Amino acid sequence: MDIGVFIPIANNGWIMSATSPQYMPTFDLNKEITLKAEKYGLDFALSMIKLHGFGGKTEFWDYAMESFTLMAGLAAVTERIKLYASVPVLAIPAPIAARMAVTVDSISHGRFGINIVSGWQKAEYDQMNIWPGQEHFLNRYEFCAEYVTVMKELWETGQSDFKGRFLTMNDCRLLPKPEAKIDIVCAGQSQTGVDFAAAHADYNFCFGMGLNEPKKCAEAVQRNVDAAKKTGRKCGALLLFMIIAAETDEAAWAKWEHYKEGADIDAIAWMNSQGEADTRKSIDVSAIYMSRPPSAMNLNIGTLVGSYVTVARLMDEIDEIEGAAGVLLTFDDFLEGMDAFGQHIQPLMKSRAHV
Ligand SMILES: Cc1cc2nc3c(=O)[nH]c(=O)nc-3n(C[C@H](O)[C@H](O)[C@H](O)COP(=O)(O)O)c2cc1C
Repeated sequence: MDIGVFIPIANNGWIMSATSPQYMPTFDLNKEITLKAEKYGLDFALSMIKLHGFGGKTEFWDYAMESFTLMAGLAAVTERIKLYASVPVLAIPAPIAARMAVTVDSISHGRFGINIVSGWQKAEYDQMNIWPGQEHFLNRYEFCAEYVTVMKELWETGQSDFKGRFLTMNDCRLLPKPEAKIDIVCAGQSQTGVDFAAAHADYNFCFGMGLNEPKKCAEAVQRNVDAAKKTGRKCGALLLFMIIAAETDEAAWAKWEHYKEGADIDAIAWMNSQGEADTRKSIDVSAIYMSRPPSAMNLNIGTLVGSYVTVARLMDEIDEIEGAAGVLLTFDDFLEGMDAFGQHIQPLMKSRAHV
């Protein structure tokens, strides 16, 4: 099973709380985390793109770096770990993103891939007057399909004359070709998103679910497996989880309860309002899901709380889910968390015995 780290490109990582570790995103912090990940044999690091924070007393995600430039810096200081940047497809033209990717491919010598972000938060784009309107919620994965097709044509042939509903290329050129295949990843949860990933991506990230119940994700993974089967392509399902670990179960649960006490209600409410703008209310996992009980405080990311032994056992349970290709990890405290994972948890995991 592959393991990656979702590095904190925005302040406070993935916990909206005034009592969780408080920190700003810097290159130095993300470099230290990624170098630890590389040292402990992790397979990949991903950074997100977030262009508008959620506010509240913690100013959640109001401070965020840009994903490609951060990964370019990390590409220069790492040697083995695979790196993924996230592209906001509405804000960056496909041929520019493709050229940025070829550049980071060169810096990293073939260790680079792109996470396709269709855009679920209107305020990120409206602030620049580039939100296409409500119809984007319906069209966004069709737009992404054209976007990825253009990028792949440019990488594979150096040229594109693509004519689609949203994108038009006129003898568009891009050389040099990448040193290695640039993987496409995505994080579609809606059926349209999952189908897009199955048709165009190499991996799709699923929201991990449950509090110490990782098997709750089996159904979401199965949806990904079924969608990939229909296309006849390979598209691995990677699950997003947060680890809150300590030497004992009691100490880990005490941290969890403490973070919950400081939940940033205003930031959560703001996220909820953004999620509700998506009128396709049928979707079951989305910003609306993230802001529901039991733990809106950490966006309802599937969470593993406990001692190193408990967390290692739960991680191995994820490996038992049929079709799960790996896990993308977040931590309450990324520096301590990476060390705890690398020194105490991973060595206890059967599914990582090869590392
Ligand atoms: C691992 C992971 C990474 C994501 N990265 C971003 C990101 O960088 N920027 C963003 O706006 N949304 C991001 N999202 C949200 C997804 O792109 C997607 O919109 C969301 O999972 C809902 O799925 P849907 O688009 O099919 O409704 C991410 C989600 C996950 C689980």
